[in-house]
Amino acid sequence: MGPLGQYAAQVHGYFTFPKLEGEISNRMVFQGKERLVWSLNNYLGLANHPEVRKADAEASATYGLALPMGARMMSGQSDLHEQLERELAAFVEKESAYLLNYGYQGMVSIIDSLLDRKDVVVYDSESHACIVDGLRMHLGKRFVFPHNNMENLRKQLERASKICEETGGGILVITEGVFGMSGDLGKLDEIVAMKKDLNFRLLVDDAHGFGTMGRTGAGVAEHFGVQGEVDIYFGTFAKAMASIGAFVAAPKEVITYLMYNMRSQIFAKSLPMPLVVGALKRLELIRKHPELREKLWEISTALQTGLRARGFNIGNTQSPVTPVFLSGDTAEGTNLVYDLRENFNVFCSAVSYPVVPKGVLILRLIPTAVHTLKDVECTLDAFSMVKAKLDAGAYATGKIVNIFE
Ligand SMILES: Cc1ncc(COP(=O)(O)O)c(C=O)c1O
Repeated sequence: MGPLGQYAAQVHGYFTFPKLEGEISNRMVFQGKERLVWSLNNYLGLANHPEVRKADAEASATYGLALPMGARMMSGQSDLHEQLERELAAFVEKESAYLLNYGYQGMVSIIDSLLDRKDVVVYDSESHACIVDGLRMHLGKRFVFPHNNMENLRKQLERASKICEETGGGILVITEGVFGMSGDLGKLDEIVAMKKDLNFRLLVDDAHGFGTMGRTGAGVAEHFGVQGEVDIYFGTFAKAMASIGAFVAAPKEVITYLMYNMRSQIFAKSLPMPLVVGALKRLELIRKHPELREKLWEISTALQTGLRARGFNIGNTQSPVTPVFLSGDTAEGTNLVYDLRENFNVFCSAVSYPVVPKGVLILRLIPTAVHTLKDVECTLDAFSMVKAKLDAGAYATGKIVNIFE
Protein backbone atom coordinates (compact mmCIF):
# COMPACT_ATOMS: atom_id res chain seq x y z
CA MET A 1 0.00 0.00 0.00
CA GLY A 2 2.98 2.36 0.18
CA PRO A 3 4.35 4.48 3.02
CA LEU A 4 1.12 6.42 3.60
CA GLY A 5 -1.39 4.04 2.04
CA GLN A 6 -0.64 1.50 4.76
CA TYR A 7 -2.57 3.74 7.18
CA ALA A 8 -5.55 4.30 4.88
CA ALA A 9 -7.89 2.05 6.83
CA GLN A 10 -7.37 4.14 9.99
CA VAL A 11 -7.07 7.65 8.67
CA HIS A 12 -8.82 8.02 5.31
CA GLY A 13 -11.18 10.99 5.23
CA TYR A 14 -9.73 12.59 8.34
CA PHE A 15 -5.94 12.90 8.25
CA THR A 16 -5.77 12.05 4.57
CA PHE A 17 -8.34 13.10 1.96
CA PRO A 18 -10.24 15.36 4.41
CA LYS A 19 -13.26 17.21 3.00
CA LEU A 20 -13.31 20.95 3.59
CA GLU A 21 -16.76 22.17 2.70
CA GLY A 22 -18.52 25.48 2.18
CA GLU A 23 -17.17 28.68 0.69
CA ILE A 24 -13.38 28.86 0.54
CA SER A 25 -12.41 31.17 3.39
CA ASN A 26 -10.67 31.35 6.75
CA ARG A 27 -13.50 29.29 8.23
CA MET A 28 -14.81 26.17 6.55
CA VAL A 29 -16.77 23.10 7.54
CA PHE A 30 -14.88 19.91 8.35
CA GLN A 31 -16.75 16.85 9.62
CA GLY A 32 -19.93 18.90 10.04
CA LYS A 33 -18.37 21.64 12.18
CA GLU A 34 -16.89 25.05 11.40
CA ARG A 35 -13.11 25.19 11.75
CA LEU A 36 -10.46 27.83 11.39
CA VAL A 37 -8.56 26.69 8.30
CA TRP A 38 -4.81 27.25 7.78
CA SER A 39 -4.09 24.77 5.05
CA LEU A 40 -5.13 26.39 1.78
CA ASN A 41 -2.72 28.16 -0.54
CA ASN A 42 -5.31 30.86 -1.14
CA TYR A 43 -2.64 33.42 -0.18
CA LEU A 44 -4.34 36.54 -1.52
CA GLY A 45 -7.90 35.42 -0.86
CA LEU A 46 -8.65 35.38 -4.57
CA ALA A 47 -10.52 32.05 -4.44
CA ASN A 48 -13.68 33.76 -3.38
CA HIS A 49 -13.05 37.32 -4.48
CA PRO A 50 -16.35 38.60 -5.99
CA GLU A 51 -14.68 39.80 -9.20
CA VAL A 52 -12.99 36.43 -9.63
CA ARG A 53 -16.19 34.51 -9.05
CA LYS A 54 -17.97 36.74 -11.56
CA ALA A 55 -15.26 36.38 -14.21
CA ASP A 56 -15.15 32.58 -13.75
CA ALA A 57 -18.94 32.28 -13.97
CA GLU A 58 -19.31 34.55 -16.98
CA ALA A 59 -16.49 32.86 -18.86
CA SER A 60 -18.01 29.44 -18.14
CA ALA A 61 -21.38 30.64 -19.42
CA THR A 62 -19.86 32.21 -22.54
CA TYR A 63 -17.39 29.53 -23.56
CA GLY A 64 -18.20 26.34 -21.63
CA LEU A 65 -15.38 24.03 -20.67
CA ALA A 66 -14.77 22.55 -24.10
CA LEU A 67 -13.25 25.50 -25.95
CA PRO A 68 -10.62 25.41 -27.31
CA MET A 69 -10.60 21.79 -28.43
CA GLY A 70 -7.32 19.99 -28.88
CA ALA A 71 -3.71 20.75 -28.01
CA ARG A 72 -2.42 24.30 -28.58
CA MET A 73 -0.25 23.23 -31.50
CA MET A 74 -3.03 21.44 -33.37
CA SER A 75 -6.35 23.24 -32.80
CA GLY A 76 -6.35 24.59 -29.24
CA GLN A 77 -4.93 28.09 -29.78
CA SER A 78 -6.83 31.30 -28.94
CA ASP A 79 -6.27 35.06 -28.72
CA LEU A 80 -7.01 34.93 -25.00
CA HIS A 81 -4.33 32.29 -24.36
CA GLU A 82 -1.85 34.52 -26.16
CA GLN A 83 -3.03 37.62 -24.30
CA LEU A 84 -2.59 35.90 -20.94
CA GLU A 85 0.92 34.85 -21.97
CA ARG A 86 1.83 38.40 -22.97
CA GLU A 87 0.51 39.77 -19.67
CA LEU A 88 2.29 37.11 -17.59
CA ALA A 89 5.58 37.71 -19.41
CA ALA A 90 5.31 41.47 -18.86
CA PHE A 91 4.46 40.95 -15.18
CA VAL A 92 7.52 38.81 -14.45
CA GLU A 93 9.70 40.88 -16.79
CA LYS A 94 10.48 38.21 -19.34
CA GLU A 95 10.31 38.39 -23.11
CA SER A 96 7.83 35.55 -23.51
CA ALA A 97 5.68 33.11 -21.59
CA TYR A 98 3.79 29.91 -22.32
CA LEU A 99 0.86 28.38 -20.47
CA LEU A 100 1.05 24.94 -18.91
CA ASN A 101 -1.96 22.77 -18.14
CA TYR A 102 -0.75 21.88 -14.68
CA GLY A 103 2.39 23.03 -12.95
CA TYR A 104 3.47 19.51 -12.13
CA GLN A 105 3.21 18.18 -15.67
CA GLY A 106 4.61 21.37 -17.09
CA MET A 107 7.73 21.27 -14.96
CA VAL A 108 8.36 17.62 -15.79
CA SER A 109 8.24 18.51 -19.47
CA ILE A 110 10.31 21.69 -19.18
CA ILE A 111 13.13 19.66 -17.67
CA ASP A 112 12.68 16.79 -20.09
CA SER A 113 12.75 19.01 -23.16
CA LEU A 114 15.53 21.39 -22.09
CA LEU A 115 18.09 18.71 -21.30
CA ASP A 116 19.80 16.08 -23.37
CA ARG A 117 22.37 13.47 -22.38
CA LYS A 118 25.30 15.84 -22.85
CA ASP A 119 23.91 18.28 -20.28
CA VAL A 120 24.42 18.26 -16.53
CA VAL A 121 21.75 19.34 -14.09
CA VAL A 122 22.50 20.61 -10.59
CA TYR A 123 19.52 20.90 -8.23
CA ASP A 124 18.58 21.63 -4.62
CA SER A 125 18.01 18.56 -2.44
CA GLU A 126 14.61 19.82 -1.26
CA SER A 127 13.21 20.30 -4.74
CA HIS A 128 9.50 19.64 -5.27
CA ALA A 129 8.35 16.28 -6.67
CA CYS A 130 7.71 17.83 -10.10
CA ILE A 131 11.41 18.68 -10.39
CA VAL A 132 12.55 15.31 -9.08
CA ASP A 133 10.19 13.50 -11.45
CA GLY A 134 11.32 15.61 -14.42
CA LEU A 135 14.89 14.67 -13.58
CA ARG A 136 14.02 11.00 -13.67
CA MET A 137 13.81 11.38 -17.45
CA HIS A 138 17.20 13.04 -17.76
CA LEU A 139 19.70 10.70 -19.37
CA GLY A 140 22.81 12.74 -18.54
CA LYS A 141 24.50 13.46 -15.22
CA ARG A 142 22.69 15.07 -12.33
CA PHE A 143 24.21 16.44 -9.15
CA VAL A 144 22.28 17.43 -6.06
CA PHE A 145 23.45 20.09 -3.61
CA PRO A 146 22.31 20.02 0.05
CA HIS A 147 19.44 22.44 0.56
CA ASN A 148 20.61 26.02 -0.01
CA ASN A 149 24.26 25.06 0.56
CA MET A 150 26.04 27.50 -1.73
CA GLU A 151 29.53 26.20 -1.08
CA ASN A 152 28.44 22.76 -2.17
CA LEU A 153 26.58 24.16 -5.17
CA ARG A 154 29.83 25.76 -6.33
CA LYS A 155 31.62 22.40 -5.99
CA GLN A 156 28.91 20.64 -7.99
CA LEU A 157 29.10 23.36 -10.65
CA GLU A 158 32.85 22.93 -10.93
CA ARG A 159 32.36 19.16 -11.33
CA ALA A 160 29.61 19.77 -13.89
CA SER A 161 31.77 22.26 -15.84
CA LYS A 162 34.52 19.65 -16.29
CA ILE A 163 32.01 17.15 -17.63
CA CYS A 164 30.49 19.68 -20.01
CA GLU A 165 33.91 20.61 -21.35
CA GLU A 166 34.13 17.01 -22.56
CA THR A 167 30.55 16.48 -23.68
CA GLY A 168 29.95 19.94 -25.12
CA GLY A 169 26.73 20.13 -23.09
CA GLY A 170 25.42 22.86 -20.83
CA ILE A 171 24.60 23.15 -17.14
CA LEU A 172 21.11 23.80 -15.78
CA VAL A 173 20.70 24.76 -12.12
CA ILE A 174 17.23 24.18 -10.68
CA THR A 175 15.94 25.56 -7.41
CA GLU A 176 12.79 27.01 -5.94
CA GLY A 177 11.78 30.56 -5.05
CA VAL A 178 9.92 29.64 -1.87
CA PHE A 179 10.36 26.11 -0.54
CA GLY A 180 6.80 25.03 0.14
CA MET A 181 7.37 22.98 3.29
CA SER A 182 9.90 25.12 5.13
CA GLY A 183 9.04 28.56 3.73
CA ASP A 184 12.67 29.53 3.26
CA LEU A 185 13.82 31.09 0.01
CA GLY A 186 16.13 29.72 -2.64
CA LYS A 187 19.26 31.89 -2.49
CA LEU A 188 18.73 33.29 -5.95
CA ASP A 189 20.98 36.30 -5.34
CA GLU A 190 23.93 34.09 -4.38
CA ILE A 191 23.27 31.64 -7.18
CA VAL A 192 23.18 34.28 -9.90
CA ALA A 193 26.38 35.80 -8.49
CA MET A 194 28.13 32.53 -9.42
CA LYS A 195 27.37 33.25 -13.06
CA LYS A 196 30.35 35.65 -12.97
CA ASP A 197 32.80 32.79 -13.15
CA LEU A 198 30.69 29.72 -13.93
CA ASN A 199 28.67 29.11 -17.04
CA PHE A 200 25.14 27.82 -16.36
CA ARG A 201 21.48 28.65 -16.75
CA LEU A 202 19.01 28.92 -13.89
CA LEU A 203 15.47 27.55 -13.73
CA VAL A 204 13.37 28.65 -10.74
CA ASP A 205 10.14 27.03 -9.58
CA ASP A 206 8.35 29.91 -7.86
CA ALA A 207 5.03 28.20 -7.19
CA HIS A 208 4.65 29.77 -3.73
CA GLY A 209 6.44 33.03 -4.51
CA PHE A 210 4.39 34.14 -7.51
CA GLY A 211 1.85 36.70 -6.26
CA THR A 212 3.16 36.70 -2.68
CA MET A 213 6.79 37.85 -2.88
CA GLY A 214 8.52 40.89 -4.31
CA ARG A 215 7.48 44.54 -4.52
CA THR A 216 4.77 43.91 -7.11
CA GLY A 217 4.13 40.24 -6.35
CA ALA A 218 6.23 39.09 -9.31
CA GLY A 219 7.97 36.59 -7.05
CA VAL A 220 11.22 35.75 -5.35
CA ALA A 221 13.44 36.87 -8.24
CA GLU A 222 11.86 40.31 -7.88
CA HIS A 223 12.35 40.10 -4.10
CA PHE A 224 16.10 39.67 -4.65
CA GLY A 225 16.22 42.08 -7.60
CA VAL A 226 17.56 39.38 -9.94
CA GLN A 227 14.69 38.89 -12.41
CA GLY A 228 17.02 39.48 -15.34
CA GLU A 229 19.42 36.74 -14.19
CA VAL A 230 16.82 33.99 -13.75
CA ASP A 231 16.84 32.40 -17.17
CA ILE A 232 13.63 30.40 -16.86
CA TYR A 233 10.90 31.36 -14.41
CA PHE A 234 8.06 28.99 -13.54
CA GLY A 235 4.85 29.87 -11.68
CA THR A 236 1.61 28.02 -11.04
CA PHE A 237 -1.96 29.30 -10.83
CA ALA A 238 -2.69 26.77 -8.05
CA LYS A 239 -1.54 28.96 -5.14
CA ALA A 240 -1.87 32.78 -5.05
CA MET A 241 -4.05 32.72 -8.19
CA ALA A 242 -6.37 30.10 -6.60
CA SER A 243 -7.05 28.30 -9.86
CA ILE A 244 -5.54 25.66 -12.13
CA GLY A 245 -2.80 25.99 -14.72
CA ALA A 246 0.73 27.34 -14.72
CA PHE A 247 3.24 29.13 -16.92
CA VAL A 248 6.87 29.29 -17.87
CA ALA A 249 8.55 32.58 -18.79
CA ALA A 250 11.91 33.03 -20.52
CA PRO A 251 13.59 34.62 -23.55
CA LYS A 252 11.46 34.26 -26.70
CA GLU A 253 13.79 31.74 -28.29
CA VAL A 254 13.56 29.43 -25.26
CA ILE A 255 9.77 29.73 -25.12
CA THR A 256 9.45 28.94 -28.83
CA TYR A 257 11.64 25.90 -28.27
CA LEU A 258 9.50 24.79 -25.31
CA MET A 259 6.25 25.32 -27.23
CA TYR A 260 7.46 22.96 -29.90
CA ASN A 261 9.03 20.37 -27.62
CA MET A 262 7.19 19.99 -24.29
CA ARG A 263 5.47 16.66 -24.63
CA SER A 264 3.00 17.25 -21.77
CA GLN A 265 1.63 20.24 -23.68
CA ILE A 266 1.92 18.98 -27.25
CA PHE A 267 0.07 15.78 -26.41
CA ALA A 268 -2.60 17.22 -24.10
CA LYS A 269 -5.62 19.46 -24.48
CA SER A 270 -5.22 23.21 -24.10
CA LEU A 271 -6.34 25.02 -20.92
CA PRO A 272 -10.12 25.64 -21.13
CA MET A 273 -11.22 29.22 -21.82
CA PRO A 274 -12.76 29.89 -18.35
CA LEU A 275 -9.39 29.12 -16.75
CA VAL A 276 -7.66 31.52 -19.12
CA VAL A 277 -10.20 34.32 -18.65
CA GLY A 278 -10.18 33.65 -14.89
CA ALA A 279 -6.38 33.88 -14.82
CA LEU A 280 -6.48 37.23 -16.67
CA LYS A 281 -8.84 38.58 -13.99
CA ARG A 282 -6.69 37.22 -11.15
CA LEU A 283 -3.54 38.74 -12.65
CA GLU A 284 -5.33 42.07 -12.99
CA LEU A 285 -6.30 41.94 -9.30
CA ILE A 286 -2.74 41.05 -8.25
CA ARG A 287 -1.48 44.07 -10.19
CA LYS A 288 -4.19 46.49 -9.08
CA HIS A 289 -4.59 45.52 -5.45
CA PRO A 290 -1.28 45.45 -3.59
CA GLU A 291 -3.32 45.74 -0.39
CA LEU A 292 -4.18 42.03 -0.73
CA ARG A 293 -0.49 41.18 -0.51
CA GLU A 294 -0.03 43.69 2.32
CA LYS A 295 -2.84 42.00 4.26
CA LEU A 296 -1.29 38.58 3.63
CA TRP A 297 1.98 39.86 5.07
CA GLU A 298 0.29 41.51 8.04
CA ILE A 299 -1.28 38.16 9.00
CA SER A 300 1.91 36.22 8.22
CA THR A 301 4.03 38.53 10.34
CA ALA A 302 1.57 38.45 13.27
CA LEU A 303 1.42 34.66 13.14
CA GLN A 304 5.17 34.12 12.84
CA THR A 305 6.10 36.74 15.44
CA GLY A 306 3.49 35.32 17.82
CA LEU A 307 4.72 31.75 17.39
CA ARG A 308 8.35 32.77 17.91
CA ALA A 309 7.41 34.83 20.99
CA ARG A 310 5.75 31.75 22.47
CA GLY A 311 8.90 29.70 21.94
CA PHE A 312 7.90 27.73 18.86
CA ASN A 313 10.52 26.68 16.35
CA ILE A 314 9.37 27.88 12.93
CA GLY A 315 12.72 27.38 11.21
CA ASN A 316 14.01 29.93 8.71
CA THR A 317 10.85 30.88 6.91
CA GLN A 318 11.07 34.15 5.01
CA SER A 319 7.73 33.76 3.28
CA PRO A 320 4.11 33.36 4.43
CA VAL A 321 4.58 29.55 4.64
CA THR A 322 4.78 28.86 8.39
CA PRO A 323 6.07 25.48 9.56
CA VAL A 324 5.94 24.63 13.26
CA PHE A 325 8.56 22.02 14.12
CA LEU A 326 7.68 19.72 17.03
CA SER A 327 9.11 16.47 18.32
CA GLY A 328 7.03 13.36 18.59
CA ASP A 329 6.20 10.07 16.93
CA THR A 330 3.43 9.53 14.38
CA ALA A 331 0.95 8.44 17.07
CA GLU A 332 1.56 11.65 19.02
CA GLY A 333 1.19 13.62 15.81
CA THR A 334 -2.22 12.14 15.06
CA ASN A 335 -3.41 12.65 18.66
CA LEU A 336 -2.24 16.26 18.64
CA VAL A 337 -3.84 17.06 15.29
CA TYR A 338 -7.07 15.34 16.35
CA ASP A 339 -7.14 17.44 19.54
CA LEU A 340 -6.43 20.64 17.56
CA ARG A 341 -9.22 19.93 15.13
CA GLU A 342 -11.85 18.55 17.51
CA ASN A 343 -11.32 20.63 20.65
CA PHE A 344 -9.82 23.85 19.31
CA ASN A 345 -11.46 23.82 15.86
CA VAL A 346 -8.14 24.63 14.20
CA PHE A 347 -7.47 22.83 10.93
CA CYS A 348 -3.93 22.81 9.59
CA SER A 349 -1.86 20.30 7.67
CA ALA A 350 0.51 18.01 9.51
CA VAL A 351 3.43 15.93 8.36
CA SER A 352 5.19 13.14 10.22
CA TYR A 353 7.30 10.07 9.44
CA PRO A 354 7.68 8.70 6.72
CA VAL A 355 7.41 12.08 4.94
CA VAL A 356 9.91 13.64 7.38
CA PRO A 357 12.52 11.86 9.56
CA LYS A 358 11.32 9.77 12.53
CA GLY A 359 10.57 11.87 15.61
CA VAL A 360 9.87 15.07 13.66
CA LEU A 361 6.38 16.53 13.43
CA ILE A 362 5.63 19.52 11.28
CA LEU A 363 2.42 21.46 11.46
CA ARG A 364 2.17 23.74 8.46
CA LEU A 365 0.18 26.95 8.56
CA ILE A 366 -0.64 28.96 5.44
CA PRO A 367 -1.77 32.48 6.31
CA THR A 368 -3.93 34.30 3.79
CA ALA A 369 -5.38 37.76 3.19
CA VAL A 370 -8.78 36.51 4.42
CA HIS A 371 -7.51 35.61 7.90
CA THR A 372 -7.92 38.10 10.74
CA LEU A 373 -5.68 39.06 13.64
CA LYS A 374 -8.29 37.44 15.89
CA ASP A 375 -7.80 34.16 13.99
CA VAL A 376 -4.09 34.50 14.72
CA GLU A 377 -4.69 35.01 18.46
CA CYS A 378 -7.04 31.99 18.72
CA THR A 379 -4.52 29.85 16.88
CA LEU A 380 -1.58 30.96 19.00
CA ASP A 381 -3.55 30.08 22.15
CA ALA A 382 -4.55 26.70 20.75
CA PHE A 383 -0.96 25.95 19.74
CA SER A 384 0.36 26.87 23.19
CA MET A 385 -2.13 24.50 24.79
CA VAL A 386 -1.46 21.51 22.55
CA LYS A 387 2.30 22.07 22.84
CA ALA A 388 2.03 21.96 26.64
CA LYS A 389 0.08 18.70 26.38
CA LEU A 390 2.61 17.26 23.92
CA ASP A 391 5.49 18.15 26.25
CA ALA A 392 3.62 16.59 29.21
CA GLY A 393 3.27 13.32 27.25
CA ALA A 394 -0.52 13.58 26.96
CA TYR A 395 -0.50 12.38 23.36
CA ALA A 396 1.97 9.52 23.86
CA THR A 397 -0.62 6.77 23.52
CA GLY A 398 1.59 4.68 21.26
CA LYS A 399 -1.40 4.32 18.95
CA ILE A 400 -2.32 6.19 15.79
CA VAL A 401 -5.77 7.75 16.14
CA ASN A 402 -8.19 5.46 14.34
CA ILE A 403 -11.10 7.63 13.30
CA PHE A 404 -13.21 4.58 12.49
CA GLU A 405 -13.05 3.11 16.00
C1 LIG B 1 6.94 24.01 -5.62
C2 LIG B 1 5.81 23.50 -6.47
N1 LIG B 1 6.01 23.29 -7.77
C3 LIG B 1 5.02 22.83 -8.57
C4 LIG B 1 3.77 22.55 -8.07
C5 LIG B 1 2.74 21.96 -8.99
O1 LIG B 1 1.79 22.88 -9.39
P1 LIG B 1 0.36 22.45 -9.92
O2 LIG B 1 -0.52 22.29 -8.73
O3 LIG B 1 -0.03 23.58 -10.82
O4 LIG B 1 0.49 21.16 -10.67
C6 LIG B 1 3.50 22.80 -6.73
C7 LIG B 1 2.14 22.60 -6.19
O5 LIG B 1 1.78 21.64 -5.65
C8 LIG B 1 4.55 23.27 -5.89
O6 LIG B 1 4.36 23.47 -4.59
